[in-house]
Amino acid sequence: MKKNYDVLIIGTGIAGLTCAIKLAENKDLDIALVTRGQKPEESNTYWAQGGIIYIQDDDKLIDDDIQSASRNTSFDKAVDVLVNESSPILREILFNKAKTEFTKNEDGSLSFTQEAAHSFPRILFNADATGKAIEMSLLNYLASLSNVSIFTKTTAIDLIAPSHHGATIHQRYEESKIVGAYLFDQENKKVLKVIAKKTVLATGGVNALYLHHTNGLGARGDGHAMVRRAGGQVSNMEFIQFHPTTFFGPVAQKRFLISEAVRGEGAKLLNPNGERFMKRYHKDLELAPRDVVSDAIMSEMIENKWDSVFLDITHESEEHLKQRFPTIFNHLIEHKINMSKDLIPVVPAAHYTCGGVKVDLHGRSTIKDLYAVGEVACTGLHGENRLASTSLLEGLTFGYKAAVDIQENIKESNFYTSEKIKDWVTSNEEIDMSLINQDKMIIKHTMWNYVGIKKSRNRLLRAQAMMRELNIQIQKFYRNAELRDELIGLRNSVEITQMIIHACLLNEG
Ligand code: SIN
Repeated sequence: MKKNYDVLIIGTGIAGLTCAIKLAENKDLDIALVTRGQKPEESNTYWAQGGIIYIQDDDKLIDDDIQSASRNTSFDKAVDVLVNESSPILREILFNKAKTEFTKNEDGSLSFTQEAAHSFPRILFNADATGKAIEMSLLNYLASLSNVSIFTKTTAIDLIAPSHHGATIHQRYEESKIVGAYLFDQENKKVLKVIAKKTVLATGGVNALYLHHTNGLGARGDGHAMVRRAGGQVSNMEFIQFHPTTFFGPVAQKRFLISEAVRGEGAKLLNPNGERFMKRYHKDLELAPRDVVSDAIMSEMIENKWDSVFLDITHESEEHLKQRFPTIFNHLIEHKINMSKDLIPVVPAAHYTCGGVKVDLHGRSTIKDLYAVGEVACTGLHGENRLASTSLLEGLTFGYKAAVDIQENIKESNFYTSEKIKDWVTSNEEIDMSLINQDKMIIKHTMWNYVGIKKSRNRLLRAQAMMRELNIQIQKFYRNAELRDELIGLRNSVEITQMIIHACLLNEG
């Protein structure tokens, strides 16, 4: 890896890749994309099943659907951007450049599906592996661009913010900017100091902090924690979205998603008594907003001491289900469940981070020269509860808009002098992996049990005290230990737990 890049993008999901593709049109720009993953496709985008909204000109209901899913807490200007700007971006990037394949009808027209809280089918999909189709097509297109380099197994440790010796606090705040990042090269166990004119965070959400979640292991809040340490703002962190239907199977932590599109196509939720219980909770039944369905399932389970509820799509034929939901069908068959004949046991799990690094409508964070796009960012679009299948579209739209903004402003930026930045000081105390694993499990259990779907002030206060103490221990340990990706993640995770708990306590409503 070189020492300087015009733009450093951290994260390789839809937002980071779209940003790189748009930036790369300017052949004078040298762009680095880094990921902590072993392969570039290791991102939450890859695992997205449902789809991506494609807003047509005659769609007059999308604003209302976004607002009603979030109970009118979505930031209207961010909604306007999505509604007015996303479709040309989707056509340019996915249809024309990446040539992403979406499922079509027999006559060759695009097929649209429906998910909860949508007024009608407006979601493009590729069977039940839409994210994989998008991710792989974007990476494939990127491989043809000579001015973007991708580095895997490279973990961002901290953003580089030059210090201002002798400056007042006010001056420091006014002059603060990001000039790159310290990156950990996992293979060579070295810390690289990479200087960039603009840095873009596309590191994803925080849901892997919960015991049960649908995300990749990288969803541990690296971007959020780096921004807080650099003095930037992070907002709405109490709005963690729980997906109502994940497979209640033997792998307890990373839960397998049973896409909302399955309910969109008619699956009913039944409790172990065979009752269609959503009738007691919401007029839209299984297609009520996601948080309402998750909450209803948890109430059923807690009140009756049930381990799970069930999804029933047995009215559909095996042939149809194999073709429409091949990933889900095959996964369930491995667990001896044939979804055309058997009920599917399901439970909610942490799924999406609606809050994040505070950004404006161009993806600019509150610190100069630092952008955040995709799930790590909070544009305000999702408010307190995200409408299904808006996340890929948000990542695409704001990844693109950040690239346009960078292109317009980068001429005014120079590289910061690397010599003025301290080299990373390495420590070499061997780390005990069992301590790291135990700390991770304490975080996951605490977040799931005390900061999960059902919260109370007492639980939050208990969690706050526990995480404060654990943070002290982990920070001590971090200072002396040899670096590893897991340790970097652990330090970030414990810092994020406190942000979430604090935000929950401030907004108990
Ligand atoms: C799903 O397929 O249910 C997930 C879609 C989303 O999170 O928007």
